[in-house]
Amino acid sequence: MNEKQRLESQQIATKNPSDKKSEKDYSKFFESVYVAPSLKDAKKRGKEEVKYHKDFSISQEFHGLGQGKKFYIRTYGCQMNEHDTEVMAGIFLELGYEPTDGVEDADVILLNTCAIRENAENKVFGELGHLKHLKSEKPDLLIGVCGCMSQEESVVNKILKTYQQVDMIFGTHNIHRLPNILNEAYMSKEMVVEVWSKEGDVIENLPKVRKGNIKAWVNIMYGCDKFCTYCIVPYTRGKERSRRPEDIIQEVRHLAAQGYKEITLLGQNVNAYGKDFEDRKYGLGDLMDEIRKIDIPRIRFTTSHPRDFDDHLIEVLGKGGNLLDHIHLPVQSGSSEILKIMARKYSREQYLELVRKIKEAMPNASLTTDIIVGFPNETEEQFEETLSLYREVEFDSAYTFIYSPREGTPAAKMKDNVPMEVKKERLQRLNAIVNEISAKKLKEYEGKIVNVLVEGESKKNPEVLSGYTEKSKLVNFRAPKSAIGQIVSVKITEAKTWTLNGEMVEQPVEVK
Ligand code: 5AD
Ligand code: SF4
Repeated sequence: MNEKQRLESQQIATKNPSDKKSEKDYSKFFESVYVAPSLKDAKKRGKEEVKYHKDFSISQEFHGLGQGKKFYIRTYGCQMNEHDTEVMAGIFLELGYEPTDGVEDADVILLNTCAIRENAENKVFGELGHLKHLKSEKPDLLIGVCGCMSQEESVVNKILKTYQQVDMIFGTHNIHRLPNILNEAYMSKEMVVEVWSKEGDVIENLPKVRKGNIKAWVNIMYGCDKFCTYCIVPYTRGKERSRRPEDIIQEVRHLAAQGYKEITLLGQNVNAYGKDFEDRKYGLGDLMDEIRKIDIPRIRFTTSHPRDFDDHLIEVLGKGGNLLDHIHLPVQSGSSEILKIMARKYSREQYLELVRKIKEAMPNASLTTDIIVGFPNETEEQFEETLSLYREVEFDSAYTFIYSPREGTPAAKMKDNVPMEVKKERLQRLNAIVNEISAKKLKEYEGKIVNVLVEGESKKNPEVLSGYTEKSKLVNFRAPKSAIGQIVSVKITEAKTWTLNGEMVEQPVEVK
C-alpha cells in the first residue's frame, strides 16, 4: 500500500468505525486507527510495483523523543522477528532512548509477536496479562504489540476489547513508522493502531543495533507468495519483495569490514529471491555467487522452499568456500497426498530428487527440516510416509510441530478427523526418530576435528566456551577467552544428546 492509498483508507477507517457487533462502543479507539487489518486484503497480491525507499531518516521533530527514557523489546518467533527487533532497537537509540534488560524500569515495552501457531499467540496474551499491573503502577508506561499477530484482525479486535493496557499496535509493514507511532501514543492516550494489511515497500538504510559482533542477519527479501494452506505468514508478512542485490552486497561488505564472521541471509522463502525483479533475471544463485567473494568466513541462508531451489543455486553452493553446506529444507510431510493438500507444490519424489542433487554437489551437506504432524485428515499410512522419508534422508535434526489451525487460512476450514491424542502420539513417534538419528550423527563426530566459531561462555559454566560448527552443531570446550569471536579447531571428545564436548587443538584457523 502506498502513502496515497494509506491516507485514503485512513479517511475510510475514521468514517466507518468498526466492531458494531460488540456491546461496547470502540469507536473512540478508532479515532487514531489508520486501517484495521484485514486478512482478506492481505491475501490480495497487488500488481503495483515494489517501491524502494533508500533515504530513510528520522524526522527532526522526533529527535530527543526518548530523552531520559528506556525501552525493552521482547521477541517471539523466528529470526526475521529477531532481526526486526534489531531495527526497532536502532530506531529507539536514534530517538534518544536507552535499552534496559527488565520490564520494571522500562518506559516503553514492545512485544514483537509471532502468529505461526496458537501457542505462540497464547504466550503473548499471557504476557500482556502480566504487564497490566506495571501499567497501573506507572501510568506513563507505553505498551506496544507489533510483529505478525498485529496483522491479524481477530487479534487486534481481541486486544481492543480485553487488553486496554496496550497503547500501540503496529504491523510488520509499519516498523519504519515507529517514531510517528510513539509520538502519537504520547499525544493521544488512545490506543494507536497502525497496521497496513497489504504489502509494504522495501525501506533501506534503517538503523540497526545488532545482537553481538560475531554473527549478523541480513534480510534479502520480505514476504511470501506461496500460500501453503496451513500458513498465516503470507497474510502477516505480505507479498514477496526482494532487496536489490547492490544494497545487500553493500551491507554484507560493511559487516565484513566491521569484523563479523558469519552472515545469515534471511527471507521467508529465500529461493524466490529476485522473482519480483522486472528489469533483470537474477536469483539466489546469482546473489550467492557474488556474496561468496566477500571476505567473510561463513555465509548461511534461511529459509528454503524445495519448490524454488534451482540447479544454478546448487551449482554455486557446490563451489563451497565460505558458503556453508548446512541447508535447512522444510519438507513438512513425507506424503505426496498431504503435500498436495498443503499446496507445497512438490511431491515426495521431487523432494527426494532435490536431496539427491544437493548431496551430489555437496557430498558432506547436512540437511535439517521442519515437519508438521496431524494435518487435517492425515492417515496413519500418510504419517508413516513422513517417518520413512525422514529415515531415507537422514536429516541431522528437525523442528517438529503439531498442526495448529490458523484463522483465515484454507486448512482451518477443513474438517479434521484426527483426534488430538493421535496427533500427540504421532509427534512423539516422529521425535523418537529425530532424536535417534541426531544422536547417531553426533556420535560420528567423536575423535574428529571441527572448526568452531566461538560465541562466548557456555550458559551453564563460565569456564567453558561454546560455539557452532559449520553444520550448526553446538560445541563446548575449554579455551582462553581470547578465542571468543574467532574460528578455532576443536577435537571432539564426547557426543552428548544435543551437543558436543571437545578440546581446542590449536589457535584460531583462518578459514577461507
Ligand atoms: N501449524 C503448525 N506448524 C506450522 N508451521 C507453519 N504453520 C503452521 C501451522 N499452522 C511450521 C512449518 C514451518 C515452520 C516455520 O512452522 O513447519 O516451516
Ligand atoms: Fe508459510 Fe509456506 Fe510461505 Fe513457508 S513457504 S512462510 S510455510 S506459506
